[in-house]
Amino acid sequence: MEIIIQPSAEDAAEMAERIISNLIITNPQAVIGLATGSTPLHLYRRLAAKGLDWSGITTFNLDEYLGVGAEHPQSYHAFMQENLFRHVNVDAKNVHLPDGMTPDPETHCHAYEEKIRAAGGIDLQLLGIGTDGHIGFNEPTSSLSSRTRIKTLTARTRRDNARFFGSEKDVPFHVITMGIGTILESRTALLLATGENKAEAVEGAVEGALTSMNPASALQLHRRAIICLDEAAASKLQRRDYYRWVFENKPPWQKIPPN
Ligand code: GLP
Repeated sequence: MEIIIQPSAEDAAEMAERIISNLIITNPQAVIGLATGSTPLHLYRRLAAKGLDWSGITTFNLDEYLGVGAEHPQSYHAFMQENLFRHVNVDAKNVHLPDGMTPDPETHCHAYEEKIRAAGGIDLQLLGIGTDGHIGFNEPTSSLSSRTRIKTLTARTRRDNARFFGSEKDVPFHVITMGIGTILESRTALLLATGENKAEAVEGAVEGALTSMNPASALQLHRRAIICLDEAAASKLQRRDYYRWVFENKPPWQKIPPN
């Protein structure tokens, strides 16, 4: 794992933006896995302002609420449209999200995995982290080799996400999410986490034991996981001085191109 600690949430978003921009510039046909939530908002704003060419880029989102249609304002379809897709020249036919209204979720989930394979796999998967350590909507006890499927949200996640729906009772119970196995197959995983409320989940994921009780800890098995944090989200890490030293002393060929 590469742990990058930045002074503020805005700086962490800028670092993540540089990593994704560099991928789009060096591989204009890249396949990028995208995430939702409050955390990537600064990142998407920066990416949108960058004016890069997205015409050859393919995207796959991590998850969607079951029973929530694309036109629903709280759907992840609507979120992505509002916060990224309408600001860049991505081709609609290259944009993929699970369909929350699918009449046959099992077939739909298999087909989603097939589409990722047919696209050549995901070059970079962006991730957030839930306060319980979930990635995508892989809640604690998710199989570490799971594929895209239906999951049931925990009470904690429904509480955390109630702010988007107005009230907790309106938050769906079920979702479709890429599995942890799906995420582990991406060529790079980029987890962005900011804020004090993520510090415990981040500590478990980075320095804790590999356990399905903290699904993000599965990234310890990933061949190239980058964990991009602000100071608050990094505040519970024991070895943060070491991570800082490593980052500051990267050999030139490993440096992330500046903006
Ligand atoms: C949701 C999403 C996750 C996201 C998490 C954290 O549950 N399914 O992909 O990482 O929330 O969200 P936030 O960034 O709003 O804290």
